Amino acid sequence: MSTQPIQRATEVPFSRYEPEAVRPTCLMCSPRLYDVNYVINPWMAGNVHGSSRARAAEQWQCLYDAVSSVAEVVLVEPQPGSPDMVFTANAGLERNGIVALSSFFHPERQGEERHFRRWFLQAGYTVIDIPRSTPFEGEGDALFAIDGSRLWAGHGPRTTAASHRALREAWRVDVTPLHLIDPRFYHLDTCFAPLADGSAMYFPEAFDRVSVERIEAFYQADKRIALAEEDAVRFAANAISVGSTIILNEISRELKRRLEARGFRVIEVQLGEFLKAGGAAKCLVMRLSKPRVGVRN
Ligand code: ARG
Repeated sequence: MSTQPIQRATEVPFSRYEPEAVRPTCLMCSPRLYDVNYVINPWMAGNVHGSSRARAAEQWQCLYDAVSSVAEVVLVEPQPGSPDMVFTANAGLERNGIVALSSFFHPERQGEERHFRRWFLQAGYTVIDIPRSTPFEGEGDALFAIDGSRLWAGHGPRTTAASHRALREAWRVDVTPLHLIDPRFYHLDTCFAPLADGSAMYFPEAFDRVSVERIEAFYQADKRIALAEEDAVRFAANAISVGSTIILNEISRELKRRLEARGFRVIEVQLGEFLKAGGAAKCLVMRLSKPRVGVRN
């Protein structure tokens, strides 16, 4: 793992980080079979079978429409017995046609692995397996810095630090471990979001001290958007950032103003039914390079 000094994010104009013209591909999964069936994070407690499929379907459709305005959306079929499959960010991590497939920590989600594997292979991606002995939960716990200079990799409740080595080897990229210490923020993408203008939203209290120092060594003060707890628990950091657009659950007016002042167009989508399972906008989407084989959308 990288313990080398962290270089600051390079100062380049907004549009140079992620040109608007680049339309990414996003993998989503219909919530047709979505349910809160078990409790594997604190948000699910008290919500077993407490979500409405009809409302979930409406909310997901609004998210689908918002994401479709900035990206090509491709779909994987939901599968019986995998009610969390809707959270495609946990399928794996993809870059340059290579997918590190998730090896879920909880047996409740391990059944999803073969469905995602089949989808990636059929879409022409190269799949790398992460051993069961070193759980890894995909893009939920691993986020590339926007300038591509490193991979931020969470560990703690789900992903193991030992799995990070495979990520470093897969892409020959510097991996910076970030230790998650608050059970509510059990995936990195629930409390940390690199944004397309080279800034980042994060909830400092979700990390141990060394991890906060690593984040702050990379993002200088004016590039840090530290979240108050009020927004953190609304999953504000669980944001989809494409060019100047940010798509997320409803947030405070103050945070919305802060993001708009940075030049972002903020699209809020009500995702309350998914919060009951511990997920929001970014969890429901996996970012992909263009599939080599034609896929359904
Ligand atoms: N119920 C799911 C779980 O606990 C929610 C996953 C949220 N995904 C994410 N990328 N944070 O695994």
